[in-house]
Amino acid sequence: MHLYDAINQRRDTRSEFTGEPVAPEVLERILSAAHAAPSVGMSQPWDFVLVRDPDSLERFHSHVATERDTFAATLSGERAETFSRIKIEGIRESGLGIVVGYDPTRGGPDVLGRHAIADAGLYSVVCAIQNLWLAATAEGLGVGWVSFYREDFLRSLVGMPEHVRPVAWLCVGTVADLPEVPDLERFGWRHRSALSSVIHEERYAAGAP
Ligand SMILES: Cc1cc2nc3c(=O)[nH]c(=O)nc-3n(C[C@H](O)[C@H](O)[C@H](O)COP(=O)(O)O)c2cc1C
Repeated sequence: MHLYDAINQRRDTRSEFTGEPVAPEVLERILSAAHAAPSVGMSQPWDFVLVRDPDSLERFHSHVATERDTFAATLSGERAETFSRIKIEGIRESGLGIVVGYDPTRGGPDVLGRHAIADAGLYSVVCAIQNLWLAATAEGLGVGWVSFYREDFLRSLVGMPEHVRPVAWLCVGTVADLPEVPDLERFGWRHRSALSSVIHEERYAAGAP
């Protein structure tokens, strides 16, 4: 698949999972793509925990449902009504969760390029996630990023040590196809902004153009 096609066809997937297991060689390829990501000081501060145990999927699903309710309780009127129609995860349907961790101790005490910006380690992990997401798209798989969770809960669910931060739960699985329009647009929650609204010439201009 052409890179720009993968970029444009990539979708956050929630409802489209078929439940068909991902072939091991395909899983290996998308994890290799993640592991090929750039990282500050070449620290490669990521870990991937593959979760397939139905009991773990169920426990995470139930935790996410509680967090969904917590968010829903902050909404009212049209926002509450619109949110109630949006599915926010496909944890059980995908059959595979990939928990992506950030280990700030990876790469030793002298990470080249992180002395002024501690978050550069976290940015590196997100680069790995995007690589995985695009590779999965090229493989015809769906990926859904779930962030409706408390880090302590997920850390303990998958046995991550205290210093490792769970950055994402990715629902990864076989899909019949990928939707053309993001769910959040389809349900009227938010729309993709125009490129011109985020480009600034020379200096940041608030509200321009
Ligand atoms: C950091 C991050 C966290 C996200 N968390 C969730 C989530 O908890 N549930 C969900 O349904 N989508 C989640 N998404 C997906 C976004 O809703 C989605 O990327 C956005 O609506 C644009 O749609 P698209 O990815 O299909 O282009 C998350 C995406 C990112 C990058």
